[in-house]
Amino acid sequence: MSPNNRFMSVFGAAPAQTPPPIWLMRQAGRYLPEYRAVRAEAGSFLQLCYTPSFAVEVTLQPIRRFDFDAAIIFSDILVILDAMDRSLRFEVGEGPVLAPLEPGTVLPPLELGAQVERLAPVYAAIAETRAALVANKALIGFAGAPWTLACYAVNGRGGSFDAAVLATMASADWFQSLIDDLTARVADHLCRQLDAGADAVQIFDSWAGALDQVGFERWCIAPIRAIVDRVRAHAPNVPMIVFPRQAGSRLARFVAQLPDVAISVDQFADLGAVRRTVGPKTVLQGNLDPLALVAGGEALTQRWRQLAGTLAAGPHIVNLGHGIRQETPIAHVEHLITLVRDGSA
Ligand code: CP3
Repeated sequence: MSPNNRFMSVFGAAPAQTPPPIWLMRQAGRYLPEYRAVRAEAGSFLQLCYTPSFAVEVTLQPIRRFDFDAAIIFSDILVILDAMDRSLRFEVGEGPVLAPLEPGTVLPPLELGAQVERLAPVYAAIAETRAALVANKALIGFAGAPWTLACYAVNGRGGSFDAAVLATMASADWFQSLIDDLTARVADHLCRQLDAGADAVQIFDSWAGALDQVGFERWCIAPIRAIVDRVRAHAPNVPMIVFPRQAGSRLARFVAQLPDVAISVDQFADLGAVRRTVGPKTVLQGNLDPLALVAGGEALTQRWRQLAGTLAAGPHIVNLGHGIRQETPIAHVEHLITLVRDGSA
């Protein structure tokens, strides 16, 4: 690893970097005209995910355009449900649609071989991307957390995840079997991404905020803890980032049980308060409001200054509090990078 890899150095013993590394969740996507062109050529979103040459190209696009410090492999958290043959498709204007998994449905025995076969193009894309990426840029692999994947599996689409929350309460034993199956799948997928060349991995628990305090322990924290242990047994010391979105006051319990991971913080949390909770060593990531990046101008500058005021307190990766919005003007992303790198503009 290159000694001037800004992203990776945040995880070392060195003090906080100036300027800090920056990448953006969903940085490869529809706000980029060059993404839309490849997406049109690929035909469908899943075709884009499963064709290494396309996936490599769209992974590298935001690095070429913005010189971000890290690339995130182009794929989706839902490929694991696709590998479970849940009839995943992406509908225009609707997002993902799957065959809803009825609570109580007996799951077929876990068979990771079929998943490895289905997801082989992801691993090939990672190997190709790492070979094409300069040494001072990191490559991030990722997966959805079991809870968030279970939300989509049970509900069959986005929107409200009440059906999944209800299943955690009314069919807890069955739900546990689903979570256990997903935990094994996610751990395997992350280990294989690291083997293929990813430098770090991020776990997205986008719907962590839908769980109450009791549910949060069992369905958010416990499976992520198990995954981190399995991944670290395979790849000790590998940087792992976890995004328990909208954890709110439950974040203290989360970091107490996961002191060994970086935390990606959503825009609703007070970053200074989170830093005081985690102490000076934990790597934090985030947490600009994606809408501030849509707004740009003074609104963005003001929020950047507030974030910058917390940087001396510990290692930080500049990012958004959730994925970049499709309507984000490219000039605003450039403005943010200038703010971070020049401390002006
Ligand atoms: O960050 C990156 O650039 C890497 C690629 C990436 C995508 N999805 C590509 C994508 C990553 C890391 C994800 C994560 C993901 N996918 C999450 C967790 C983060 C979050 O946003 O909360 C979730 C919940 C999903 C599931 C998913 N995939 C949804 C709900 C949708 C539809 C909503 C939408 O934005 O259209 C997708 C589709 C998707 N995944 C697109 C992209 C670029 C858009 C599809 C298209 O191009 O047609």
